[in-house]
Amino acid sequence: MNFVAESLYIVAAILFVIGLKRLGKPATARKGNLLSSVGMLLAIVGTLIHFEIMSPEYIVVGMIIGGAIGIILARIVQMTEMPQMVALLNGFGGLASLLVGWAEFHRQYENVLNPDIPHTIELYTAVTTFLTVVVGGLTFSGSVIAWAKLKEVMTGKPILFTGQQFVNAAVLLAVLVGGVIFSMNPAENYPIFIALMAVGLILGVTSVIPIGGADMPVVISLLNSYSGIAGCLAGFVIQNNVLIVTGSLVGASGIILTNIMCKAMNRSLANVLFSGFGSVVASSSSGTKGEVKSVSVEDAYYILESAGSVLFVPGYGLAVAQAQHVCRELADMLHKNGTEVSFGIHPVAGRMPGHMNVLLAEANVSYDLLKEMDEVNPTIESVDVCVVIGANDVVNPAARDEKGSPIYGMPIINVDKSKTVIVMKRSMATGFAGIENPLFYKENTRMLFGDAKNVLQNLVAEFKKG
Ligand code: TAP
Repeated sequence: MNFVAESLYIVAAILFVIGLKRLGKPATARKGNLLSSVGMLLAIVGTLIHFEIMSPEYIVVGMIIGGAIGIILARIVQMTEMPQMVALLNGFGGLASLLVGWAEFHRQYENVLNPDIPHTIELYTAVTTFLTVVVGGLTFSGSVIAWAKLKEVMTGKPILFTGQQFVNAAVLLAVLVGGVIFSMNPAENYPIFIALMAVGLILGVTSVIPIGGADMPVVISLLNSYSGIAGCLAGFVIQNNVLIVTGSLVGASGIILTNIMCKAMNRSLANVLFSGFGSVVASSSSGTKGEVKSVSVEDAYYILESAGSVLFVPGYGLAVAQAQHVCRELADMLHKNGTEVSFGIHPVAGRMPGHMNVLLAEANVSYDLLKEMDEVNPTIESVDVCVVIGANDVVNPAARDEKGSPIYGMPIINVDKSKTVIVMKRSMATGFAGIENPLFYKENTRMLFGDAKNVLQNLVAEFKKG
């Protein structure tokens, strides 16, 4: 039986790796997701066989209830609220690991108390168990705080107080000291084990409250990595290979994603975690000199109609307006009109990794038309019209030109270097970073004010008329 179970675990692990690889490209992502799901099903079947669970009613009922909740949530949650949902899912992963660690310790503790079963708790088990509950606990409480900040249940501003770093260091020290005392003699130190779980939960709260709501996507990616590490540790506790493999994959991919996000924002992880940045602080840019030239939908239509090449640069506003479908409609019309159309995708446009790719994929925009920032920038001077749809920071030339700017050094899509720029947004309001955008005042920029969906619908109507 164990041979069958272990074989299923190996197949599941292979499917997870292939699935993860396929998630790296929009064209293969759906299949990747499906493969990973099949892997998870095999892992569950393997577990039922491995532990000889012959009456799996509870597990099947749990799968049905969990699956139903998952389907409902996936259908009702708005795309812009996805980071909140991911935060909760990470948190539940952490909580599950904590409960596995606690249950296993409790089982072993009862065995120690039972004089009929000669049993001691190994040092290895004690260390992995205490790490599981601490990392699992901090992932859970940290994720709940991240969720509450994004959901605006609590303030999104960094909560800072004097001596905060000292408090965090003290909590961390308490974990280390408590962990050593517990591991030396686990059977005698059940109360310390409980205290360690509590301190892990406190650590999650104290380490996430000083971070601004706007930086939460990076924190959520980091917590995703923690949830993987907690799962991997839980795998060591109950000696389950597939849990170790899955946890390691989640832990590693989460930290890689965190790194990519930080790089794309030109920030270090330490800066995100410890600087209290990320609350939207309005500040002006010295480069905002010039005149704002707004255009009507009709004028924009004439500009687009005569353009040989058009690059759409979508941002957070596209997601807010849910304008992806009508955007594709306009792109199709331009294409029919003989215009060369493409989409420039900035790695941190929107509010979560791959946000623009997901939106455009939903609207069936062909993957060949999506170009990454590094691909569009070298030839952007030759683009006739860049149409910026609800993007702001990711096209802000201050990041390239103004040394004093808070976003200085963040790579941007250089739309201002194209021949003409049309910027669609509702007002002159700032974006995520809370800073003014000199792009709006440039000679070759035309502002097309309004909700992105309405404006695009009106443009499509103009094309239909013309
Ligand atoms: P932002 O800089 O946030 O700008 C979005 C713009 O969309 C706003 O200026 C807003 O202007 C406009 N907008 C909002 N609703 C709209 C609507 N219904 N119709 C038209 N326009 C609308 O977005 P971005 O350029 O995509 O940059 C993303 C920012 O988020 C970056 O600073 C990035 O570092 C940060 N961030 C991203 C991530 C990831 S992983 N993507 C994670 C953390 C942080 P109006 O109000 O005037 O309309």
